[in-house]
Amino acid sequence: MKALHHLAVIMDGNGRWAERRGLPRWRGHERGLGAVRRLCEAACRLQIPCVSLFAFSSENWKRPETEVRFLFRLFRRYLGAEREYLLARGIRVSAFGRRDRLPRPVLEALERTEAETRECGRLHLRIALDYGARYEIASAARELAGAAARGELDPGEITEERVSRVLGHDAAPDPDLVIRTAGERRLSNFLLWQAAYSELYFSPTLWPDFGDSDLDAALADYGRRTRKFGALPLPEAR
Ligand code: IPE
Ligand code: IPE
Ligand code: MG
Repeated sequence: MKALHHLAVIMDGNGRWAERRGLPRWRGHERGLGAVRRLCEAACRLQIPCVSLFAFSSENWKRPETEVRFLFRLFRRYLGAEREYLLARGIRVSAFGRRDRLPRPVLEALERTEAETRECGRLHLRIALDYGARYEIASAARELAGAAARGELDPGEITEERVSRVLGHDAAPDPDLVIRTAGERRLSNFLLWQAAYSELYFSPTLWPDFGDSDLDAALADYGRRTRKFGALPLPEAR
């Protein structure tokens, strides 16, 4: 398999999954947890060391309060219900995104899981929660500008590597592949800096239905891509 150090997934289509069955949207979100478990299993099996999941965007606060509340409750439930599984499989969980707007019980559950799984080394599961790439980039700019204003940093030292370091608080590599489900073809403010050279794959499958065969199709497609990063392809890749 072509090297895949970091897989990022925009889990989309939960609402449509439910609406097509005449069910309330929350049933789709609930069902989406099964797909998260399947993806974790596959990542462990395929030895993909890092997976990022877009779970709640900073723009998702615009949804009805009942849906937002349900999503956070579901996330908390997920952390509790999956605790044993995560530890047994050796899955480290961490979240990225804003923490200052998370409901307190969610933040506490998250911090507990992060602490409990910190030493797990088989898979790093990164969950984007209240995450928006533009906010993240603006925060990094603010941090660097602050350091420069205090005389701790020469603005000439603000390189791409430095910005990447400020953004990548937990040192994840840039994603090699970004998968978005449910047929939508946009990034919706996900990892805009880090995905500069990611391969993009759009699956028509709604997230709750996303399974091994969908992942296999994405990985097979990724395996056929020629990654050039602006250079010419290596002779064996031509
Ligand atoms: C993705 O499913 C989950 C979140 C954004 C939280 P959606 O809820 O966006 O599902 P659709 O796009 O309405 O079908
Ligand atoms: C992106 O999905 C956010 C998550 C998957 C968490 P959305 O459903 O919120 O994106 P848009 O609104 O269709 O762009
Ligand atoms: Mg959506």
